[in-house]
Amino acid sequence: MIMTTLNKINVINSIKKLDEADKELLRAARKALKNAYAPYSNFQVGAALRLKSGIIVPGSNQENASYPLCLCAERAALAAAANLYPKDIPVSMAITVKSKEKKIKSPATPCGACRQVIAESEFRYKHPIRIILQGESGPIFLVPSIKDLLPLSFDGTFL
Ligand code: THU
Repeated sequence: MIMTTLNKINVINSIKKLDEADKELLRAARKALKNAYAPYSNFQVGAALRLKSGIIVPGSNQENASYPLCLCAERAALAAAANLYPKDIPVSMAITVKSKEKKIKSPATPCGACRQVIAESEFRYKHPIRIILQGESGPIFLVPSIKDLLPLSFDGTFL
């Protein structure tokens, strides 16, 4: 049976409305962003992945002169966590961005490739990953699961 969820995204206007754990995660994403290597796009992305144990694993985008090899922040964080703590379940991820060219006042949502990789993590660990998104300033999107950003996704059940 096909099951999907839509329209579950919550929009809040201030970081003050987040609980302490989510505030901490968003701060960790902002810190991670400082390690971005983005000389080509000048667009820095920071991700922070919280594992069930409470451990936070950072990720940032790492670009390459051969553009298709650029690594997104979300996938960097997920790969780091899977290598460092393979048994610890990813439960939430904060993602934030910063551009040298303009002020980003609304959340940048994960690219399609990252959505697919986040979906694989949910499938692998049988656990949703809550996603917290914010630009440099402005509203915060709270997304309960990648299923809300990638409905009807392709996953291992087909193989
Ligand atoms: N980027 C990410 O890190 N995550 C995304 O979900 C979208 C794009 C990075 C890739 C590249 O380094 C820069 O942002 C511009 O596309």
